[in-house]
Amino acid sequence: MKSEFLQAMSKAANSVCVVTTDGIGGKAGMTVSAMTSVSVDTPRPSLLVCIHGQASACDAIRTNRAFCANLLAEDQAAISDSFAGRTGKKGAERFDCASWHAAVTGSPVLDNPLAAFDCTLVHDILVGSHRIFVGEVEAVRVAETGAPLIYFDRQYARATPQG
Ligand SMILES: Cc1cc2nc3c(=O)[nH]c(=O)nc-3n(C[C@H](O)[C@H](O)[C@H](O)COP(=O)(O)O)c2cc1C
Repeated sequence: MKSEFLQAMSKAANSVCVVTTDGIGGKAGMTVSAMTSVSVDTPRPSLLVCIHGQASACDAIRTNRAFCANLLAEDQAAISDSFAGRTGKKGAERFDCASWHAAVTGSPVLDNPLAAFDCTLVHDILVGSHRIFVGEVEAVRVAETGAPLIYFDRQYARATPQG
């Protein structure tokens, strides 16, 4: 069942985020495709990310009580690779691959994301190997132009409008 699940899930086309955090729990980040909107019918909109409990960013987010979901553009696959550990870099070293500034919560936000959602952590739910972090959005950035980086069939892809 596990391999069938993974094979079937590889057919879902997902956007790619780098989820970052900074504060007393340390500066950390990782690549995440499991990011989705939860609700906009609340005083502040919310979103969720699913993060492996062994990932180095997991404890940092829990301690800092904040994270930023940086939605990558189609020309930012190298940033995704860095934060997925594919270049061998760990911890704060991963941030060398791009330019950043501090968001409202203190989490690092890319200087040129397709979009970015700066969040305060409001729910932290353990489900098997992963934690579902629900964040309340404190600030949003969005680029005027650009297309998302897509992950589909275990590789990067582009979103092509059907127009
Ligand atoms: C495109 C892509 C999407 C990913 N999505 C997730 C995800 O949603 N959740 C997760 O826990 N790991 C995801 N990963 C894996 C983590 O980015 C990877 O395990 C990372 O190295 C964990 O951080 P660490 O090396 O600091 O422990 C994804 C990797 C890639 C390349």
